[in-house]
Amino acid sequence: MVSPFLPDDEKLAAVRQALPALSAGIYLNTGSAGPLPRETARAMADLAEYELAVGRAAPDYDLQSIERMAEARAAVAAILTADVDTVALTHSTTDGMNAGAWGIDWGRGDRAVTTNAEHPGAMGPLLALRDRRGVDLRIVDIGDGGDVDGILAAFEAAIDGRTRLVVVSHVAWTTGAILPVREIAEIAHRAGALVLVDGAQAAGAIAVDVSALAADAYALPAQKWLLGPEGMGALWIDPAAADRSPMPAASSGATTIARRCWASPGAAAGWRCSSGSTTSIAAGRRSPGERPTRWRRSAAWRSSHRATGWARS
Ligand SMILES: Cc1ncc(COP(=O)(O)O)c(C=O)c1O
Repeated sequence: MVSPFLPDDEKLAAVRQALPALSAGIYLNTGSAGPLPRETARAMADLAEYELAVGRAAPDYDLQSIERMAEARAAVAAILTADVDTVALTHSTTDGMNAGAWGIDWGRGDRAVTTNAEHPGAMGPLLALRDRRGVDLRIVDIGDGGDVDGILAAFEAAIDGRTRLVVVSHVAWTTGAILPVREIAEIAHRAGALVLVDGAQAAGAIAVDVSALAADAYALPAQKWLLGPEGMGALWIDPAAADRSPMPAASSGATTIARRCWASPGAAAGWRCSSGSTTSIAAGRRSPGERPTRWRRSAAWRSSHRATGWARS
């Protein structure tokens, strides 16, 4: 970790030291995958070595892995200005977008509205819903994302009483435009629709406050602006929305933590939707000098991952 309180020149030197890939050239592709911090790579290597040498499961791992996952979820909660109980760990943005899109009990002819600037990770689930479930998918042309009045007028025209879901990026991957999510959410909510936000190009790049955005769910990756590894992400869910339209994904930890989370569903939306992985955001948070044995439970947790309900449907 680089202290934010260092003088600028020292901070820059420390950041460069922490991110070895910066020495290989000018790094301009964080929108695909950010440079991996040395500390994170070391923690992942420790875990891989532990799994190799000791194994990937043991009966006494569970409580500690829950702690590590809670730490990772708390880190995401801080980034999203949200409560830890509303954050689920996933494997990618696309994973979260799938959970959000397939979490609705769609009827034939129900409408979903999105933009023509969505990434395949967001568009794919919607196209599948159109083709498999007969969802009426409307795609709003938002141009380069800069004409806010035009965008809002287009959403007003596309959203109707049968609209169940609006899917929109926070930051467009095509142009970098910050889209007017809050205003779009207000239009959607007036029609009774939920709003699922693709935060892949926003989380870690710009300040995010999910409540201020008035969204119902927000998906993000670890590997881009948050500089985490591949195979890790998170989904924030507003508890009221989760109760209105419970996500069907079973947590990989369901067998262990089911009693705790199902007993208080409103407070545990994050747990309910977790797809279960602990190696990256948690890995980056390993404290200096901590023994790799801290990873034992996390390893077991990761290997206990099961395919989620929506993935099979
Ligand atoms: C806006 C947007 N959404 C989704 C994705 C897919 O992200 P992931 O690989 O985490 O599923 C990307 C990747 O570039 C993206 O830019």
